[in-house]
Amino acid sequence: MKYNFDTTPDHRHNASYRWGMSDMPEDVIGMGTADLDFYCAPCIREALVPIAEDNCYNYRQHTDEYYDSVTSWYRKKYGLEIERAWLTNVPSTIGAVRMALGILAKPGDNVIVQTPVFHPIVSAVEGADLNLIENPMKIVDGHYEIDFEDFEEKIREFRPALYLMVNPHNPTCRVFTKDELTRLVDICYEYGVKIVSDEVHCLIVYGDNVHTPILAVSDKAKEISIQIVSLSKGYNIMSMPHAIITVADDEMRAAWNRQIQAFSFGYAVNSFAIAAVTSIMKGEADEWMEELTAYLENNVNEFISFIEENDIPLTAFRPEGSFLIWVDCRNAGIGEEHLDRFFMDKAHIHLDDGEENFGSEGRGFVRINLAVTNSVLKEALERIKAAFSK
Ligand SMILES: Cc1ncc(COP(=O)(O)O)c(C=O)c1O
Repeated sequence: MKYNFDTTPDHRHNASYRWGMSDMPEDVIGMGTADLDFYCAPCIREALVPIAEDNCYNYRQHTDEYYDSVTSWYRKKYGLEIERAWLTNVPSTIGAVRMALGILAKPGDNVIVQTPVFHPIVSAVEGADLNLIENPMKIVDGHYEIDFEDFEEKIREFRPALYLMVNPHNPTCRVFTKDELTRLVDICYEYGVKIVSDEVHCLIVYGDNVHTPILAVSDKAKEISIQIVSLSKGYNIMSMPHAIITVADDEMRAAWNRQIQAFSFGYAVNSFAIAAVTSIMKGEADEWMEELTAYLENNVNEFISFIEENDIPLTAFRPEGSFLIWVDCRNAGIGEEHLDRFFMDKAHIHLDDGEENFGSEGRGFVRINLAVTNSVLKEALERIKAAFSK
């Protein structure tokens, strides 16, 4: 490997959310918050250092190079033609989701969402005074599937203003296929339901799985969707927040751009984020991403085989994308509530409790972040084994 994912900065002392919570024991292993432990691709440093050296942070524009890198990235990676005028950015994916909710729905409207679901999505819905309609994912032969019958039935019954899609899905780590997406789009189109698509986890995808951006699904999708992507999850640039929003439909775009103006986000251009995103989208970190994905896939494989080989009573759902893993603990004899406490007390591992962070459909599950070094993963697995043998 050209890049080293075996050593990391000292996250216990850099204000990391994941590793630095004040109430956690000294030897805790942070496997919660969805960021990566690794150093970023070198091109990011190269893009940022000259800006820091100039030490001048006046209002900046999006450069031509930025727009060209975004449009060519979509063309090369997904065969999706995007016009420059369709693009805007805001600092935060969830912020963009919340803005889109405010544009496409009015207080009291319904929003349909696949559950379990990442809690900030629920907060965005509630913060916009909308009602969440749940379309629970169902487990079929050890694999999460979309329940299309329930989806259509709930749309008929509740007439939601929009469908808030999370794809790749957090926390089940499903990467929806183009067929599934086509079916979802066709149903939404038929019933006049708009789509807001949060694709923040689209960059890390394993094996034969393929991410399809919502706007690449069909012309119908272009008419009804707002696409929200950020490079943060793939390239570990969460503290340079930058979400890229693409709106193809003229009417929705006019409404969206009005809000960009209202929030003054046309001026909220972070020169560091623009430089980092430009270098990544020009392809300078492609090789780094390939190696990162291989490293993470090895962690995933190791996690799953260790659980199986040691008869640990947990069932892990093999992730199709992202660096997370969703684990069923319902047969583990540790109850279904506050499972994070079990892992913290018995193994000094901090992870995300399914119910607390992903709602009632997450009860009895935990989500574990595998974007740690392989040696940290090994230590965590040994601690989990010891916790279950007690
Ligand atoms: C589905 C989803 N959307 C959005 C976010 C957060 O993105 P941002 O930090 O850009 O708001 C996360 C973070 O875990 C996520 O899982």
